[in-house]
Amino acid sequence: MHAILFCLLASTTNAADTWSDVSPIVSRHCSTCHHDAGSGPFPLLSHSDLAGRRRFIAEILRRKLMPPWLPGGDSPPLHDDRTMPKTDRTRLIAWLDAGAPTAEGTEPVAITPPITPSFPAGTFTVPLDEPFVIPPETIENEHRFHQDTWCFVIPLDNEDPLRVRGIGWKTAAPQSVHTVTLVADDRGRGRKRDEVDPRVGFERDGDLDRDISGSLGGVGIGLDRMLLPPGFHWSIPAHSDLVAEVKYRPLGRALPLGDQAYLVPADDVASREVIAVVTGVNRLKVPAGEKEHEAEDRFTLPAAFDVIAVIPRARNECRSMRLSANLPDGTQRTLLDIPDWDAHFRRPYLFKSIQSLPAGTILVSRFIIDNTDGNPRNPYDPPEDLRIGRRTGVAGFTLLGAGSDAAASNLLLKTSQRVMDRRGSQTRPSRTPIPSPKAP
Ligand code: HEC
Repeated sequence: MHAILFCLLASTTNAADTWSDVSPIVSRHCSTCHHDAGSGPFPLLSHSDLAGRRRFIAEILRRKLMPPWLPGGDSPPLHDDRTMPKTDRTRLIAWLDAGAPTAEGTEPVAITPPITPSFPAGTFTVPLDEPFVIPPETIENEHRFHQDTWCFVIPLDNEDPLRVRGIGWKTAAPQSVHTVTLVADDRGRGRKRDEVDPRVGFERDGDLDRDISGSLGGVGIGLDRMLLPPGFHWSIPAHSDLVAEVKYRPLGRALPLGDQAYLVPADDVASREVIAVVTGVNRLKVPAGEKEHEAEDRFTLPAAFDVIAVIPRARNECRSMRLSANLPDGTQRTLLDIPDWDAHFRRPYLFKSIQSLPAGTILVSRFIIDNTDGNPRNPYDPPEDLRIGRRTGVAGFTLLGAGSDAAASNLLLKTSQRVMDRRGSQTRPSRTPIPSPKAP
């Protein structure tokens, strides 16, 4: 009886929501990015921030373009899930449609900007010292939704190997810098690329031979850190550089990059080293004008693999992607389903619980590519051939995790690299194998 009465009351109040009713929704789902130091293009903190553009915001909400969160369908539970519950969305839209009312006789109270939590004690900061300035306009002009890629070498000068359990990135240009992925380099490969390019940093993707950018994690819009679950660590060899791949969107004005990377040291307890297994298509060729190009890849795990995170990768000609696992017992499990891909919101996805895949599991990755001008996110207008080289034909998933022991991890790593090499054009040098722990 009470419950029914409460529901009736609640639904009648909803119809007449005022700012004080909806501001917690805005605070939870929008202000996290839409504040002065955030990635959103304007603040969404005060009543007037919303009322001033209420029709536009309502439309963006109706089209489910905000908050940005790519996984959907039957993806397993993920950390930092930004899905906006339907009731919250409906209430906010109804309030905007009703003219964004405030309670009579009260001053609308603005939302307090969010406070970014500090990094754990002991975290060290490594600044990007190079004087890079994001140019006002994209390198190749006159196309839509474009994103440029630039890479930087950050020397760590570490005498000894480092074990880290988390990475972070703070950018001075949060509205422009979309995705940063990292890889450790102890063989000067990043430096060589940097030397060849006379400019600050270098214009290329951040992959170093077979070591894929993102094997040391990454960040994206609204996400400034990636912390591994207990039991896992990344290993950075002695005398390494961090090589950072930065994807940014020019904003029409020059923006100096004063960025910093963070490394969170691992606790001194036994844990497994994280490896990056890559699966996908790396010789993708999609001629301009092809509407529904399907690319599928299958990769059989040679050993059991505990997966903790996935980083998807594809250009914006790709419309949707899906990574699933066919287990040896015949069951099928979805690992990541992205029904509406948008490269601007690319970021790592950390599973809430470890996805343990037995040996013999077949990883199936599937990509649908629309290389026509009917694809609203196609970066080229008119569309251009998607191929190996400058318009790189890679669509893939980087799975971060570990085998049951060092031998299993090395086998997983080697097999994945061999398979990708066979699909690619060349054989490339491999990283040093993971050492087995020494007997005490
Ligand atoms: C994870 C960070 C994040 C969250 C959370 C977020 N936004 Fe955004 N929002 C952005 C970014 C980044 C852009 C710029 C997108 C671009 O340039 O493609 C944006 C753009 C917008 C735009 C302009 C869209 C356009 O096409 O120009 C509106 C309106 C908007 N957001 C409203 C909202 C609302 C309302 C919420 C809460 C329900 C919200 N956003 C939550 C990051 C966020």
